[in-house]
Parts: sequence; structure tokens; C-alpha cells
Amino acid sequence: MKIAVLPGDGIGPEIVNEAVGVLNALDESFEIEYAPVGGAGYEAAGHPLPEDTLTLAKEADAILFGAVGDWKYDGLARELRPEQAILGLRKHLQLFANFRPAILYPELAGASSLKPEIVAGLDILIIRELNGDIYFGQPKGFRQALTGPFEGSREGFDTMLYTVPEVVRIANVAFQAAGKRGKRLCSVDKANVLETSQLWRDTMMEVSKDYPDVELSHMYVDNAAMQLVRAPKHFDVVVTGNMFGDILSDEAAMLTGSIGMLPSASLDANNKGLYEPSHGSAPDIAGKGIANPLATILSVAMMLRYTLGKEEQAHRIEAAVKHVLAQGLRTPDIMQVGTTQVGTCAMGAAVIAAL
Ligand code: IPM
Ligand code: MG
Repeated sequence: MKIAVLPGDGIGPEIVNEAVGVLNALDESFEIEYAPVGGAGYEAAGHPLPEDTLTLAKEADAILFGAVGDWKYDGLARELRPEQAILGLRKHLQLFANFRPAILYPELAGASSLKPEIVAGLDILIIRELNGDIYFGQPKGFRQALTGPFEGSREGFDTMLYTVPEVVRIANVAFQAAGKRGKRLCSVDKANVLETSQLWRDTMMEVSKDYPDVELSHMYVDNAAMQLVRAPKHFDVVVTGNMFGDILSDEAAMLTGSIGMLPSASLDANNKGLYEPSHGSAPDIAGKGIANPLATILSVAMMLRYTLGKEEQAHRIEAAVKHVLAQGLRTPDIMQVGTTQVGTCAMGAAVIAAL
């Protein structure tokens, strides 16, 4: 098995280093190859997604991705900014199904900004469509406003767009995932305003006929944002489009106390995947050795489960993470009274010891 490792920017290299350590501790037979991406790609080859990096990502069986982005690249043209690397990988590799679980570890209930009784036992899965929507819809750009009270002014525009087959494929993934869990799927849209969402909703209802054992409900995105903080445990699996999923998955992540705990998987139609922590590159704490590597380590567990078919090893990693939390070890982002603060490397080493 060949694994492409793309550490990226900010805290990316530090957390990926710990995750690779965990992978090697489990099984030394993985072939691991590194390549630069994001700002690091720009520095190395003048592009956030260098040709060689993309080739490696295509060849590999799975991709472990750190994070991209740094304020120092904010002045670059959009196509050269670090974020284009992850968008490009998702698009070129047709990674359309993004799994973002939000699980609350009992030891961390106090770290959530919500009352423990609201979040205790939380286990929801957000499935975000990743290849379409306003992120990729054409046309987009800048122009002079053609009509209206601001005619002639400079305007920016994007196109929100979904075709039926794109919604069908993410719907199938979501119904199947819900079928393996609590059998409740909530589709989030803005069908009271947007045609894209009406098509999304109609398609979800159509596909639901193939999954009679899964209960489908619909919710407007504004209400979903509210219900996520009001009664998050009412959700089982949520399926939504690219932009709403971007926003709601950050919100859901924070319910669990720290976005530093949450892994994610982006899969294609054959379960080849890119695995990355749900959090970003956090340039403000880069190089300080304090970043939480657990989201990336748990992303390795998702890789073993979804792409490499090694459920037992995935489970071992998850159990090891639970063990270090139970030992009271905490990086600063999940620190609480009575626990022991450790840095990035010590946390990685503790997980390996627990394995
Ligand atoms: C995410 C990130 C990305 C997105 C950015 C870095 C382009 O916020 O993975 O959620 O918007 O998809
Ligand atoms: Mg995001």
C-alpha cells in the first residue's frame, strides 16, 4: 500500500509527523512518500498543487493531508493561494464525499462551550458534498453590474449549481452511511429560497425510495445551525452541499470541545480517500510544539477503515486515543483543571505507547 503524505503549512508538518509515527508503529509495510502542498508547494514549485504532488496523489492508495494556508500568502492571486491545493485535490481526484464526524469523548465534555448535558454522548456525522455547489460552479468572477441600483459598479459573482447526478451520488453515500448507524438522515438545504436547494431536496426524496429503512428529514440551513447548538443529539447523519457543509461542520466540531480532535475523510466512488484533520493550519501556533495531533492520528484510523480495509487497526488507534484521554493527557486546546498538559510530540508518543 502506498500512502501519499502531504503535510502542507502551519502546524501541518508537526501533526502529520505524529500521525505517520502512529502508522509506522502499527505496520511498517506501508510505503510512504512525501510531497509539498499549499504554501509549501508554492515555495517549492511555484504552485500550491505542484504537478508532481498531484501525480503522487493519483498514484497512491490513500492520501494523508495536514493543513494548508498562511496569512503570508493572502496577497497572492486566488489560483496561487494555498487553499487551491485542497480544492484542486478534491476536484482532480473526484473526492466528492466528505465525512466529518463530530464525536464527544466523555473525558472532554467539560471542554465544550455547551452544557455537558446538551453534548454528553454526542455522535453525529456530517456528510458534505465536496465537488460542486458555489465552490466550483461556473461562471464566477468580477464584472460591472449590468442592472439594478448599482449598475456599472464593480461586482463579484459566483454560481451555486448542482446537477441531479451529483446529488444522487452523495445521497447514496449518505443513505448507506445512515443505514449503518442510527438510520436517520437529515438533509440540510435552503429550499425556501434557492432553486439549487429545491433540486437537492427533490433528488433526496427520490433517492430515499431506495432506502426504506432510513428515515429522511429536511431542514433549512439556518434552522440547522440553530438546532446544532440547541439540541445537537437529535441529529444522526446530516447530508448537505459544499458550502453549508463547510459551515455546519465547523459548528458541529466545536460542540465537541475542540476542533483539534476531529478527523475527516474525503472519498471517491471507489473509497479511495484523502484524510485530513477537520481543523486548519493554525499558523499562529505553528512551530511551537503545542498543536493537538489527535485529529490527524484519528484521520489515519479513518484511512485504515475506509480505504485500506483494516478495521481492526483503525479500532486500535481509536482505543489508544481514548486511553491517552483517560490518562488525563491534554494538549492546550483541550486542557482542563486536573489534567496534564503535554505537547504535540508527547501526545503522539503517548498514543504509540498506548498502542
Ligand atoms: C474545509 C476548509 C476548506 C473549505 C478551505 C481551506 C478551502 O475550510 O476543508 O472545510 O472551505 O472546504
Ligand atoms: Mg471549512
